[in-house]
Amino acid sequence: MNLKGRDFLTLKDYTTEEITYLLELAAQLKEKKKKGILVDTLRGKNVALIFEKTSTRTRCSFEIAAHDLGMGTTYLDPKSSQFGKKESIEDSARVLGSMFDGIEYRGFGQEIVEELAKYADVPVWNGLTNEYHPTQMLADMLTIKENFGRIKGIKLVYMGDARYNMGNSYMIACTKMGMNFVACAPKKYFPDQELVKECEEFGKESGATITLTENVAEAVKGADVICTDVWVSMGEPDEIWEERIRELSPYKVTGEVMKQAGSQAIFLHCLPSFHDLKTEIGKEIGEKFHLTEMEVTDEVFRSAQSKVFEEAENRMHTIKAVMAATLGA
Ligand code: CP
Ligand code: NVA
Repeated sequence: MNLKGRDFLTLKDYTTEEITYLLELAAQLKEKKKKGILVDTLRGKNVALIFEKTSTRTRCSFEIAAHDLGMGTTYLDPKSSQFGKKESIEDSARVLGSMFDGIEYRGFGQEIVEELAKYADVPVWNGLTNEYHPTQMLADMLTIKENFGRIKGIKLVYMGDARYNMGNSYMIACTKMGMNFVACAPKKYFPDQELVKECEEFGKESGATITLTENVAEAVKGADVICTDVWVSMGEPDEIWEERIRELSPYKVTGEVMKQAGSQAIFLHCLPSFHDLKTEIGKEIGEKFHLTEMEVTDEVFRSAQSKVFEEAENRMHTIKAVMAATLGA
């Protein structure tokens, strides 16, 4: 498998075999890291990490993974760089592409990371856009593999806003990998019809199915994986909290939901999560709307079925695999 020089912008661009290869590479790199075996085969290279939105996991994963591989990193935030403000994406891409060996971008529209990739002659990796979060998917797939020993045939239910980066990406990842994807939400939060059609085509190849439903009991019955995400994503206006809470509360992941799914089910969440009031935003919104938790109950979040911290750790191992493969380690 040769992925050298490839961008990593959405899993739509990758075949089932290529995704499987990245997951296997991630598992190998994880094992080596646990054993203390250094894999610093990219010594002398440097990567730029552009973050127009905040991050804990993705930034740390790129930095640690790059350093483990022997590379240097430069972090660019929107305030300290000219990116997109005083300098066009095209010009920035040409400049950064001439200095760095790879570029990570987290920010707004997918068209920005696509343009960056178009004009930079080095691999560009999507660290989250409004539309997609492909590196997160690799971490989730690795966590599923570790927990069930397989990926194909797994039933994954995504509860909440299925039109945004996480919902879209789960539908793509599941249909590429032969999983049964269920989006459970009010109709208006179902993924875009065009993307559903595209993913149905992937499903024809891999044996995956897509179900869109408003019925929670029906959706979660026999599910292997229940996942959700915050109800309001980065960059969305604060004014929509009220509507989201009203419309998505019936789709909160509760103990009852996990019971309906069955004891085999695991819970995943990309994080950060509003499962209690121990955050500034969680506290403010919670007090305003008389809630103590939002998309998932604290009980489920802290339960033995919850694998969210394994999932978070896997961000680093999978991101390392993406950089190693595309930079040709
Ligand atoms: N899951 C995820 O992308 O986390 P960060 O926003 O902390 O990077
Ligand atoms: N949907 C969330 C994912 C965070 C990792 C957001 O875009 O804010």
